[in-house]
Amino acid sequence: MRSRLDHEVQQQRLANDSSLPHALLYTNHRQHLTQQLLRHSGSDQSLCILGAGNCNDVELDALLQHYRQVHLVDLDSVALDHALDHALARLPESEIEPNRERIHRHAPVDLSGMLPVLDRWQRFQLTPEELMRHPEATAQAIAQRLGAQFDVVASACLITQMQLAVLQALGESHRLFQAIRHTLSVTHLRTLAALTRPGGRVVFASDLVASDHLPLPDNASATTDAELKAVFEGAVRQGTAMHVAHPGILGAILRDDPILERDLQPEPISDVWLWHQGPARRFLVYAQHFVRGA
Ligand SMILES: C[S@@+](CC[C@H](N)C(=O)[O-])C[C@H]1O[C@@H](n2cnc3c(N)ncnc32)[C@H](O)[C@@H]1O
Repeated sequence: MRSRLDHEVQQQRLANDSSLPHALLYTNHRQHLTQQLLRHSGSDQSLCILGAGNCNDVELDALLQHYRQVHLVDLDSVALDHALDHALARLPESEIEPNRERIHRHAPVDLSGMLPVLDRWQRFQLTPEELMRHPEATAQAIAQRLGAQFDVVASACLITQMQLAVLQALGESHRLFQAIRHTLSVTHLRTLAALTRPGGRVVFASDLVASDHLPLPDNASATTDAELKAVFEGAVRQGTAMHVAHPGILGAILRDDPILERDLQPEPISDVWLWHQGPARRFLVYAQHFVRGA
C-alpha cells in the first residue's frame, strides 16, 4: 500500500500539473503576489518561497532581478523543476547559468511534518506530548534541512493545501480534527519564524474563501480594491472564510503562543485580490506581512 506521503506527493503533482494550462488566468494573482514579495527585496537579500510549486503564482524572473538568491520549497519536485526550466528558458543564453546558480530547489519537503504520522494519528495512536512537540520539532527539522535563514520567507497559498490533507485523512468529524488542525497552524507559523533571520520579513499569502462558498466578483479589473476589501471583511466576519486561513484565528494563535508572540510581529493586511484558479473557480486571497523579532 502507498504511504500517505507518497499519496500526497502524487495528489499535489496532479494538482500542479492541472494548473499549468491556466498560467494566463493566474496573471492577476501572479502580479499581486510578486508585488508583495518585492516590497522588502534587495540585491543582497535572500527569498524563500514555501509551496512554490510551478511558480505559476510568481514572476520568478522579476524576483531574480531583485534578490540575490531565491529558494523554492515544495512537496512536488517535478513542479519545482518545471518552475526553474520555465524561468531560465526566458533568459538570454549568457544569463542562464549564473541565474541557475541563484535558484535553489528543496523537494520533496513536507512542510506540515504530518504526512508520515497522519494515518497513525487517525487511529488515535498518539500522545498529547507528541502533538505538543510537533510544531517546534517540525520547524527545526525543516530549518535544518534548508540549512539557512532567509531575509524574506513567503507562504504561497500553502496552509489551506496542507489542511486539506489533514481533512482528507481524518474527516471533519474525527475527534482530533480540530486539535490537529490547530497544531498544523502553529507548525506553519513556527516554521515561518524559524526560517526567517532576526529582523527579516514573513509574507503570508493565503486563499481565504472560494467562489464555491461565497459569490466572488469574476472580473478582477472591474472590481475596486475597496469592493474586494468589503468582501474580505464580510467573509472574515460571517465565518465563510476557511478556518486555517482566517486572519483573526491566526492572530489569536500568535498572541497565545509565547514563541510566536516574541518572534512574529504582525502588520496590517497589506493586500486583497482575486485568483482565477481555473475557468470555473476563483479565490479571494490576502497577504499579511510579519516582522521577525530580533
Ligand atoms: C496552491 S499551490 C500554490 C501554487 C504554486 N505556488 C504554483 O504556482 O504552482 C500549493 C503548493 O503547496 C504544495 N504543498 C501542498 N502540501 C504541501 C506540504 N505538506 N509540504 C510542502 N508543500 C506542499 C503543493 O505541491 C503546491 O505546489
